[in-house]
Amino acid sequence: MKFKLFYVWLTVFVLAGVFFSCSKASEDEFETAPCNTDNIKYVADILPIVTTNCYACHSDGTETNGISLEGYQKLKIQVDNGKFLGVVSHAAGYTPMPYSAPKLSNCDINKIKAWIEAGAPDN
Ligand code: HEC
Repeated sequence: MKFKLFYVWLTVFVLAGVFFSCSKASEDEFETAPCNTDNIKYVADILPIVTTNCYACHSDGTETNGISLEGYQKLKIQVDNGKFLGVVSHAAGYTPMPYSAPKLSNCDINKIKAWIEAGAPDN
């Protein structure tokens, strides 16, 4: 009798676990799905990504490998030579950035691509 009760509870817990892991997964999808890449601006969109993920090692005063990305002009140098997109998209032939940290989100990388395709405007 006691054993039957045990299996009933076991089933309840397993079903609850399945239910919660599924609802968590769909929440995550909802959060990451919308990514607006229209009309990307340097100050509003690109600068926060670079400040958060790159300035620790590439600002004025922390020029790792001689590279500062602080301000539009310096970032633009790395845009024009192809390295900015190369390193963040982990393209072959570039050292992946951020250095020894997880890759940027797809949304951030898509924003960077859209901005560069639009001519990397200083806006
Ligand atoms: C934890 C420190 C660190 C962070 C954060 C970091 N970098 Fe770097 N970066 C390095 C180091 C170290 C190198 C030199 C790596 C090498 O050549 O082996 C480098 C090199 C580079 C280069 C030159 C790569 C080449 O192939 O010539 C670029 C461009 C660059 N980083 C851009 C970025 C960008 C953009 C970000 C943010 C998305 C970033 N880095 C974040 C440490 C960092």
